[in-house]
Amino acid sequence: MDGSISRRSFLRSAALLTAVVGCYPWRSASAALDSADPKFDGGKFWVAELGGAADFGSDPVFLVAKYKNGKGELMDEEKIYVRAAGSGDKKSYVVLSAICTHLKCKIDYSADAGKFKCPCHKSEFSLDGEVLKKPAKRDLPNYSDRLVVEAGKLYLRHKAE
Ligand code: FES
Repeated sequence: MDGSISRRSFLRSAALLTAVVGCYPWRSASAALDSADPKFDGGKFWVAELGGAADFGSDPVFLVAKYKNGKGELMDEEKIYVRAAGSGDKKSYVVLSAICTHLKCKIDYSADAGKFKCPCHKSEFSLDGEVLKKPAKRDLPNYSDRLVVEAGKLYLRHKAE
């Protein structure tokens, strides 16, 4: 392992730690997210706070989205990757499932290759979730349309079941 790989590993770990630490304050501030918050849409959605918008760069960050209802109860979890795309006024965020569409292994992000790789049977996916290499046949589910950016934070909504 040369120095640049070690540095990349360090930066990835730092980004993940930042995301995890960035999620922590939500737990203490979650009282502000009550059932009257419009993000819950009267109970139609559960909401997971993903962290500060500024915490996300162009490299995907792995997170476990923890969806809570308006009472703050944990209702579901989802393994996801989040990254920023564009910059300034054009900045947006891409949220993809981190679960391989072949047989449901968790995929890894390879910064060196600039794509996702599945450790189980070697499927590969682009940063937008498109299948680059089989055996997976379906693209990664894209949850970007469920994202809410509010007051400098990212939230992901999930239909209440
Ligand atoms: S589970 Fe990912 S390639 Fe088989």
